[in-house]
Amino acid sequence: MRVLVSGGAGYIGSHTVIQLIAAGHDVIVVDSFANAKPSVVGRLEALTGMPLDVRSFDLTDHDKTEHLFADEQIDAVIHFAGFKAVGESVEKPLEYYENNLVSTFSLVRAMRRHDVRKLVFSSSATVYGDNAQVPMQEDAPTSATNPYGWTKVMIEQVLRDVAEADPSWRIALLRYFNPVGAHPSGTIGEDPSDIPNNLMPFIAQVAVGRREKLSIYGGDYPTPDGTGVRDYIHVEDLAAGHVAALHRLGQTDTSVNTWNLGTGHGTSVLEMLHAFERAVGHELAHEVVDRRPGDIAESYADPTKAQAELGWRATRTVDDMCVDTWRWQSANPDGYP
Ligand code: WQD
Repeated sequence: MRVLVSGGAGYIGSHTVIQLIAAGHDVIVVDSFANAKPSVVGRLEALTGMPLDVRSFDLTDHDKTEHLFADEQIDAVIHFAGFKAVGESVEKPLEYYENNLVSTFSLVRAMRRHDVRKLVFSSSATVYGDNAQVPMQEDAPTSATNPYGWTKVMIEQVLRDVAEADPSWRIALLRYFNPVGAHPSGTIGEDPSDIPNNLMPFIAQVAVGRREKLSIYGGDYPTPDGTGVRDYIHVEDLAAGHVAALHRLGQTDTSVNTWNLGTGHGTSVLEMLHAFERAVGHELAHEVVDRRPGDIAESYADPTKAQAELGWRATRTVDDMCVDTWRWQSANPDGYP
């Protein structure tokens, strides 16, 4: 199929582009490069051995979006593009609602006009809110505790209603747990633009000497070692889940399908830190500090629906996640040029 990948130069998007091409699909990447470096494109072309069709514009520009669908034969869309920093969304709610919602409206309107009805949407376990029961199941109620999370809850609802009005749509809502890791080549990976909010890139930057030490947010949670527990999933497993969901949309007669993409296993902050120390071969400076406001103690997926319906499961271990992250970070201490 010819697949439009919005945000295809981003962390999860770039890894998914590699697997889409390996699966024999043609890819068009649309990226505004608001949150990605142009040098990613050269890395992707080196990995695939072929030129990558990249269109550099913002999906909120409906004219450009519409023209792309008018000019190109597109069979399906994977929609990654969007702002995704929880803390930033609290500071800039209007920008988050406008960017994430308007870009999706623009994209879906162009798809509808040009009869492109297969859509894989990048959602998040954040839609389970902060009172969910673990393991999280797809039929749990959704809510959010920050504007970023609300954009995901709202976009899921918009897409459910669009499909309700026109059941010819085939939509996959993919709820990622905690994406980490990097392509085994070490040439593409996660490259936060500022001080990393997320655990794994922060640990990696401590290991490479860019940060002094890891602050562990809270050691008094009701968890085995007192630190927060999350369902970390290797970005390569996540990318494979997108390819599986895309293929499933060609077979299912269900217009909206929600799938958790997680391992089903919880890993604590201390366990992840120790796994990373094994990858680098020495201890990493850290200290336990106060809890981060808004954090929950435990989050991990019930992955059985995706396993049953997509024939997909995460296979990479926490050690794989750390070894692959370290290979990327040590080869690219300052991220992409
Ligand atoms: C993981 C654990 C922290 C940093 C977030 C978003 C979510 C999704 C994934 C987009 C927690 C602890 C972290 C640090 C720490 N993003 N931690 N020191 O909060 O589970 O989820 O990223 O969809 O929307 O909320 O991920 O990596 O920030 O935190 O101790 O410097 O690591 O307390 O227990 P989180 P995280």
